[in-house]
Amino acid sequence: MAGKKSLEAARRRAAELRETIRHHDHLYYILDRPEISDAQYDKLYRELRALEEEYPELITPDSPTQRVAGEPRPGFSEVEHLAPMLSLDSGDDEEDVRRFEARLRAALGDGAVEYVVEPKLDGLSIELVYEEGSLVRAATRGDGRVGEDVTANARTIGSVPLKLRGAEREPPRLLALRGEAIMLIDEFERLNARLTQEDKPVFANPRNAAAGSMRQLDPSVTVQRPLVLYAYEVMAAEGLAPATQAEALDALRDWGFRVSAETRTGLQIADAIELHHELERRRDDLDYEIDGVVIKLNDLAARERLGATAHHPRWAFAYKFEPRREISEILDIVVQVGRTGKLTPVAMLRPVDVGGVTVSRASLHNREEVERKDVRVGDKVRIQRAGDVIPQVLERVDGPGKRRGPKFRMPRRCPVCGTPVITHGPLDFCTNGLACLAQLKGRIQHFASRDALDIRGLGERTVVQLLEAKLAASVADLLSLREDDLVELEGFAELSARNLVEAIDEAKEVTLDRFLYALGIPEVGTQTARDLARHFGSLDAVLAATREQLEAVPGIGPKVAEAVSEFLASPGTREIIGELMKRGLTLVEGEAFAAADFAGLTFVFSGGLESMSRSDAQELVRSLGGRTSSSVSAKTDYVVAGKDPGSKFEKAKELGVTILSEADFLKMLPRGSR
Ligand code: IVH
Repeated sequence: MAGKKSLEAARRRAAELRETIRHHDHLYYILDRPEISDAQYDKLYRELRALEEEYPELITPDSPTQRVAGEPRPGFSEVEHLAPMLSLDSGDDEEDVRRFEARLRAALGDGAVEYVVEPKLDGLSIELVYEEGSLVRAATRGDGRVGEDVTANARTIGSVPLKLRGAEREPPRLLALRGEAIMLIDEFERLNARLTQEDKPVFANPRNAAAGSMRQLDPSVTVQRPLVLYAYEVMAAEGLAPATQAEALDALRDWGFRVSAETRTGLQIADAIELHHELERRRDDLDYEIDGVVIKLNDLAARERLGATAHHPRWAFAYKFEPRREISEILDIVVQVGRTGKLTPVAMLRPVDVGGVTVSRASLHNREEVERKDVRVGDKVRIQRAGDVIPQVLERVDGPGKRRGPKFRMPRRCPVCGTPVITHGPLDFCTNGLACLAQLKGRIQHFASRDALDIRGLGERTVVQLLEAKLAASVADLLSLREDDLVELEGFAELSARNLVEAIDEAKEVTLDRFLYALGIPEVGTQTARDLARHFGSLDAVLAATREQLEAVPGIGPKVAEAVSEFLASPGTREIIGELMKRGLTLVEGEAFAAADFAGLTFVFSGGLESMSRSDAQELVRSLGGRTSSSVSAKTDYVVAGKDPGSKFEKAKELGVTILSEADFLKMLPRGSR
């Protein structure tokens, strides 16, 4: 940095930087459309931090640099809520909703009644308090009157503004609001994958993961667990009185909060009921888990008149979806073949209704899992439906002493095509590749999935329907689906058919990395697809690459190179790609080509660094496409040893992982990112 600035100049620059950083935080965390690269962002951030280090008197609690995790604490202190945090009256029957409306109309007298419907987010309810525009407190619900002070953790959540924005309206001097801290489903899956890798227990669902992370005594753990906050109620706003919930939500958006995009305003009760059904159908396509909708009276003055019982307000009703965990009995265990040829044992169940869907089969994952859970034909088991995965068997619930069927045995040949099965650790595979018919369904689902073409509204059920109706003999057929075909399918109406066709049309423009991922190349996940796209730059170049050239891509080893080259060389693959292009698939440029110099590499930081904080260093690695982990394993590529590195250093030596000094690490960074 240039010579020492005068205090005044530094103050001005710091204010400017904070505003710019907040603007980019808002674009990134709230609107989900960043306008600068991570490296550019880091540069701003580092300049601000350097200024604040030079002039500590300039640090403000709402500065973006103050999101860093503080020290672990012995326990949470208690806080009394400004207004009691009530829960919601709820039910999962349409009749319950009608009764709610009848009560409400009886109390309000004649006149128009309008509702706002919001998804009922399945996370942890949080109260946030802002004074003079700055976050001063975050609390959990607790017993409704007194909750736990989780301010330090809330500060680490990107979508919790430390300072309110005033884009359209001045932020109030005092603001109290409620929202839900949740974990996005893909983050949840990533977290569980990481925990598995670290040999730690996993979370049963995103809600537990969110609650566990929010109630962490060590904020540096919360930081590593990406939570998102959605705001939904203004509890108090001094000097500002929104007249309706719709206005209040607009104000929350303006002040810099996320508000669920599924929220609808101006509804009658029949619309609200319909929206409940629509969201129940679409719940697996959302990025987060919801367990119903919340129907709220829009008119806030009318809410005041209605008031609350001791437990819940009279102006809102949680219209829940049906529960998604049930107990059933295993009638048989069959083996299913997935898109990669993986053999999955599946429990055939006595059919039960789980969350409005009749479930008659549930995944048992793999041979080892069946052994671990010790489930057999005849056992009673607890099953769960979550996200868009097929239902899973959670555990056996039978008591001891029951006569049971024989132990499960994995077949030695693919049950679909008869090819001999090979075993990789706990997994078993059919080696017949694309010639195995069972793989089509999996391939189509994968093709449409979120990280691939992201065709909204094309869930598993629809894929099965398409296959049964012979509307999709290959992934290419998806691109020529017509509304006329779809309306013939059960559960489709004109609108939903049009929506799906539109979603498919939108998905036809795709970035190279997503396209490569969508093809379902064995061994190629999103990261490798990104590495390939970035390295080769065009589909033609990827298709022309030899095995040696593939192996030269950072992050790609001989095994992956072989899988990729074999897959891409096969005439079947070439034909599908040709068909897709013929039917309008276009490759477009996208963020995919951002810097990813550390792609495929995993770093672990041990001990303190001189030049930056550990969390900044981790952030830097991730911004360069690398991964970070908190523990050393055989999969770790580098351990960066700072001051007093401790046990991770020892473990790295033991495992023969490359150990870098801080200076070595700094040398690895590309120009401009240091
Ligand atoms: S409003 C005074 N809106 O559902 C009413 N709650 O018991 C305040 N929830 O504890 C709640 N999504 O954690 C409201 N859009 C939403 C919600 C929501 C999820 C949770 C909240 C609450 C529970 C109901």
